Amino acid sequence: MSKKIRLVVLPGDGVGPDVSRVALDVLRAVLAGGRHELESEDRLIGWAAYQAEGTPLSDATIAACLEADAVFLGAVGHPEAEKVSPALRPEAGLLRLRSALGCYANLRPARAYAPILDASPLHPEVVSGTDLIIVRELAGGLYYGKSRETGLGNRRRAIDTEAYSVTEVRRIAKVAFDLARARRKIVTSIDKANVLSTSRLWREIVNEVAAGYSDVKCSHMLVDRAAMELVLKPKSFDVMLMSNLFGDILSDEAAGVVGSIGLLGSASLGGKTDLYEPVHGSAPDIAGQDKANPIGAIVSVAMMLRHTFRLEKEAGKVEAALDRVLASGLRTPDVAGRAGANAGTRAFGAAVIEVLAAESRLAVARAS
Ligand code: NAD
Ligand code: IPM
Ligand code: MN
Repeated sequence: MSKKIRLVVLPGDGVGPDVSRVALDVLRAVLAGGRHELESEDRLIGWAAYQAEGTPLSDATIAACLEADAVFLGAVGHPEAEKVSPALRPEAGLLRLRSALGCYANLRPARAYAPILDASPLHPEVVSGTDLIIVRELAGGLYYGKSRETGLGNRRRAIDTEAYSVTEVRRIAKVAFDLARARRKIVTSIDKANVLSTSRLWREIVNEVAAGYSDVKCSHMLVDRAAMELVLKPKSFDVMLMSNLFGDILSDEAAGVVGSIGLLGSASLGGKTDLYEPVHGSAPDIAGQDKANPIGAIVSVAMMLRHTFRLEKEAGKVEAALDRVLASGLRTPDVAGRAGANAGTRAFGAAVIEVLAAESRLAVARAS
């Protein structure tokens, strides 16, 4: 059956536009010649939106995202944004978007790619074979709790609160266990149950959910220990389930383990429209210099094909093309390792597109 894919693209700030361009070209290349029609519309978010529209995310853009089948986001954030009020900063736009879409399940896979193992600071035998996925609760917790400031001068106090309900924990735990069933069937739930009451509730509900998945091994780990084990034994993890804040922190650590924050993609599911974004930020230090690694953005495209459009074959093609290009020796500066860098954002993306194009030429030739 042919599908019409309606996509809203929010390139955002810094390296966001650099990697979004590549991601979209990869999506077009994998769909080219097929039965699926892609309709995409670019809109503003973050600092770019604030400058043009006076807000980091307009109501019109939210409405367009809600109408779409999926949203692809590059990155938000700008050094000058510290000067504006917190509610108007780029990050507020992103949090508003996630909340408006209602996507509570953020999947962040981290994989060690064999050809660039030396991009990791860890011994190759420690990192090799790492293949884990962080399931981050994305719609609640400390990010969306009551937040305020009181007092003046030395009496000033800032307060953030973390709240989790049974329903919120149950639904994200189910996502983790369902995912584990299709993987190595191990869930490690990460919390701080020795201190936080939200974590104690979290653990209790995760155990309840686990009881319905007797084929999946479930264990709990305190977040401080998990931060250490992730570096010592990254291979021991399969599905890592955690709250919004812990997921934010440990996903960057997982990125460090496999070599670069530029390698990780993500899917945010469970709401009205699915959202896809690389895990990295706007990287102002390398923005617009053709240095950003587009792999995280390309992985996010593969995840979109798989999770939203159920185009497993196309998702696999994108992943295989990525593996081929890495195996051919191409490396952006962040994963240069001993061999050194030999590609920029565009050249790396072009190589992936060329692999996909060559495959579809072959398919056409075979069919005729
Ligand atoms: P960052 O991820 O932007 O950058 C951290 C480091 O990683 C930098 O040295 C950067 O050059 C490098 N890096 C990031 N992406 C890369 C890529 N694709 N290829 C190669 N190297 C890459 O994190 P930060 O510096 O803490 O934050 C910068 C801004 O981005 C802040 O405003 C922050 O709020 C925002 N941010 C946005 C998102 C998002 O939009 N989802 C995520 C994280 C941070
Ligand atoms: C991420 C980012 C965001 C987060 C920021 C930019 C709000 O760090 O997607 O990991 O903390 O969720
Ligand atoms: Mn983050």
